[in-house]
Amino acid sequence: MPDNYNNPIGVFDSGVGGLSVLRAIRAQIPQQPVLYLADQVHVPYGPRPLTEVQAFSEQITRFLLANGAKLIVVACNTASAAALTHLRKTFQSVSFVGMEPAIKPAAEQTRSGVVGVLATPATFQGALYASVVERFAQGVTVLQDACPGLVGQIEKGELDSIETESILRAALAPMLAKGIDTVVLGCTHYPFVIPLIKLIVGEYVRVIDPAPAVARQTRRLLEPGLMPESVNEVTDIVYYSTGSAAAMQGLLQKLMGETGMVKELHWNNGQLAK
Ligand code: DGL
Repeated sequence: MPDNYNNPIGVFDSGVGGLSVLRAIRAQIPQQPVLYLADQVHVPYGPRPLTEVQAFSEQITRFLLANGAKLIVVACNTASAAALTHLRKTFQSVSFVGMEPAIKPAAEQTRSGVVGVLATPATFQGALYASVVERFAQGVTVLQDACPGLVGQIEKGELDSIETESILRAALAPMLAKGIDTVVLGCTHYPFVIPLIKLIVGEYVRVIDPAPAVARQTRRLLEPGLMPESVNEVTDIVYYSTGSAAAMQGLLQKLMGETGMVKELHWNNGQLAK
């Protein structure tokens, strides 16, 4: 048994989106301590060049590993698109779990043959998205929308405001008109607006949140000897934000229904420091 099996896993996102993944991880692996890092000073990642997001992701990974993380969950589609291949090459002894848009289950389940994907501009530009569509969506029409402004709304905790609703209606109405029966959430922020999405698309359109599948994959990678022992221990979660700790605390309450200890981090010459 490796001696780091009780160590935390590192989970990161540009902001609070990765909390939708953290929620699923905690439901499936409640005994697993976590370091959660939100790079809120740089949110949103979506409109940024892939090279910049890659540099942020590498430094965040270095920070999480230096603080004891035994496995890294890239709980951000944009960072996965920009950096996953690079991270696996750079940190060869580390296991990574990344996000990829759930085009495969959508293509398998659609009956109308038309699916909609909501993600960020960088995710749509990355090679990962093109390859997933190419491999799994043969014969299926895939419509996409980058939902400009939606990540910002969720970062403000505006899950059901008029502005949030109008961004979603602008994305979904043309897709509905073309006959989608499935919506893929290709950004980890978006599961927090599932109630609003369901209100717009109605009960016959399926909404796919990949977080439970990502949590299952995390569990699979921990199972060979890296799983903490006790299921009764209180889960230890440390939250870090490169933005305001107070704002992050408010969002934890709003999105997760709990209070959490948030520590502020700062970028200094391209590196993260406490
Ligand atoms: N939550 C992220 C994603 O899954 C990033 C969104 C953003 O920062 O633009 O893509």
